[in-house]
Amino acid sequence: MKAVIFDLDGVIADTARFHFIAWQQLAADLGIVIDEAFNEELKGISRSESLERILIHGNQSDRYSEGELAVFANKKNEVYLELISSLSEKDILPGITAFLDELATADIRIALASASRNGPFILDKLGLSDRFETIVDPSGLKAGKPAPDIYLAAAAQLGLNAGDCVGVEDALAGVQAINAANMVSIAVGDAQELAEADHIFSSTALLDLETIQGVWEAAHH
Ligand code: BG6
Ligand code: MG
Repeated sequence: MKAVIFDLDGVIADTARFHFIAWQQLAADLGIVIDEAFNEELKGISRSESLERILIHGNQSDRYSEGELAVFANKKNEVYLELISSLSEKDILPGITAFLDELATADIRIALASASRNGPFILDKLGLSDRFETIVDPSGLKAGKPAPDIYLAAAAQLGLNAGDCVGVEDALAGVQAINAANMVSIAVGDAQELAEADHIFSSTALLDLETIQGVWEAAHH
């Protein structure tokens, strides 16, 4: 195991709730109601595809022009940026800083594979930019999570084979992306929802290198 590739929203930072609030506001403007359960289906999904799913949910797909869709997506992002404007070190999820330290000490490389175009900005706000050797730009990818593209791009940017990498995710689409990339998948969250992962921690506070290395070795022997 040579690298750990991280998702951002819901793994590194507690930003998933801000995405939800911003989408909920935009949906309400369009007369669409979305709840926490529906929001689970948006986790890990790109901005434009999330909008598409919300419109389908509200029976409004095919109603808007490309231009209107872009305006809606921008509007959501403006609300989101406002919500995360005061993000700081205190919004790093429990255990993450210690886990990043543990990886650095063990010479395990660290990359980011977030669907968010705000990834670099958020890492900066959290004071974590220096910890990440490379960040995948999601705007250049053919397919979003659950497709493996973003994890494969992270491995390529590190110059590593997928088999050398482990991915960490909080959402099912993300776990599926890691698995499709043939990497070991580590999930953080609900065991039932994320059952497809190779290993699940109920909280980021419980992430630990020894356990993850054990899972990686079991998968590779
Ligand atoms: C993912 C989030 O990390 O990034 C999604 O889980 C979000 O909720 C996606 O839609 C895209 O984020 P952004 O910041 O580019 O709109
Ligand atoms: Mg996530």
